[in-house]
Amino acid sequence: MDGVTVIDHPLVQHKLTFMRKKETSTAGFRRLLREISTLLCYEITRDLELTTERIETPMATIDAPVLEGKKLVFASILRAGNGLLEGMLDLVPSARVAHIGVYRDHDTLQAIEYFFKAPEDIGDRLVIVVDPMLATANSSIASIERLKERGAKNLRFLCLLAAPEGIERFREAHPDVPVFTAAIDERLNESGYIVPGLGDAGDRMYGTK
Ligand code: URA
Repeated sequence: MDGVTVIDHPLVQHKLTFMRKKETSTAGFRRLLREISTLLCYEITRDLELTTERIETPMATIDAPVLEGKKLVFASILRAGNGLLEGMLDLVPSARVAHIGVYRDHDTLQAIEYFFKAPEDIGDRLVIVVDPMLATANSSIASIERLKERGAKNLRFLCLLAAPEGIERFREAHPDVPVFTAAIDERLNESGYIVPGLGDAGDRMYGTK
């Protein structure tokens, strides 16, 4: 699918299976999410530009590779996005962080914004927007609209599971934002949940209902 990358690394697929299992505990789910997000972060950043910096090793002076440009921004769509965020920050601790609070109105399934905080100079940085579930895409579409209004120009979207309907809506709304996901599931159900999916990611992560 154009603009969509499925991260099919065997470790990602293995961990995802355990996250899907309904008997996986809250602690287990959280641990797996942290581990898998590190792997997803590794994959989504594999084409970042490098430059060189002159350094001295104990043996010689060399021009060694370092990341080019300003620090990345990880933009977490609350609250489930925070589960992906933690593992990503393990890998890129210097990244800046944006938070976007949107909730789904249970009747309309529309995204309602209640919180937004992002770095001032977001337009000069690569922004990786994270939310584990790309379902109806209402919250991700709305969050990325807000980030673009604040000046973000270079964005990528990272999730764990995507529904075909969500991908289609997302790509239509933001064709300039590539999507990275660990799997594309079968469909959305009438309540906007991904099937087979893994249930409500936020509830599974935090032990709520
Ligand atoms: N959000 C979730 O947490 N799970 C879904 O299946 C869909 C949206």
